[in-house]
Amino acid sequence: MDNSFSYMRNSKDGENGHHNNEFNDEPGWDDNESPDLSELRNLFETELGAMYCIENALVEAWPNLIKYATSPTLTETLTDHLQCTYKHVAKLFEIHSLLGKDIKQRECETVKSILRQAEDVISHSRKGLVRDAAIILVAKKIEHYEISIYDTLYAYAMILGEKKVACMLNQNLEDEKRTDLNLTAVSASFINPNTI
Ligand SMILES: [Fe+2]
Ligand SMILES: [Fe+2]
Repeated sequence: MDNSFSYMRNSKDGENGHHNNEFNDEPGWDDNESPDLSELRNLFETELGAMYCIENALVEAWPNLIKYATSPTLTETLTDHLQCTYKHVAKLFEIHSLLGKDIKQRECETVKSILRQAEDVISHSRKGLVRDAAIILVAKKIEHYEISIYDTLYAYAMILGEKKVACMLNQNLEDEKRTDLNLTAVSASFINPNTI
């Protein structure tokens, strides 16, 4: 029997077999059905491969953002996040091993397009505040893109009963969120230098 919803059926199951999970009240969810989640699993694995491609592209491109940043706080924030990004690549590799799957390499045109725009903006702006502002804009676009994917992959991992994988994806997600907040703080400091 498919155990895809096992994480929702654990300790919270009541005596009548109904669980108290928040999803239980959602319309369209029927406890008597054993849905075939193989298509969701395929989608999940495909997007994991795409995320692996994105993180690798960022490992290559991120040092350029660091190189052209002027503000020491921005440089530090970007440098810290590059270290996180190395870990994200390693974690995604480990996730594929845990799932017993080869990595399906995918193109990541969205991130490559954002990075191409970044090169353009950086090369056309003078060193200093405006170039830093452009770098923050690019970095935040990328972080939000990563957050949207990790957030969704986390939810899919939970639905598929892959708790350990979900936990690892959540660690990456938290790194992205923290960096996004740090970039916001750096950005705010440009408007009011007394804020940091
Ligand atoms: Fe990342
Ligand atoms: Fe990131």
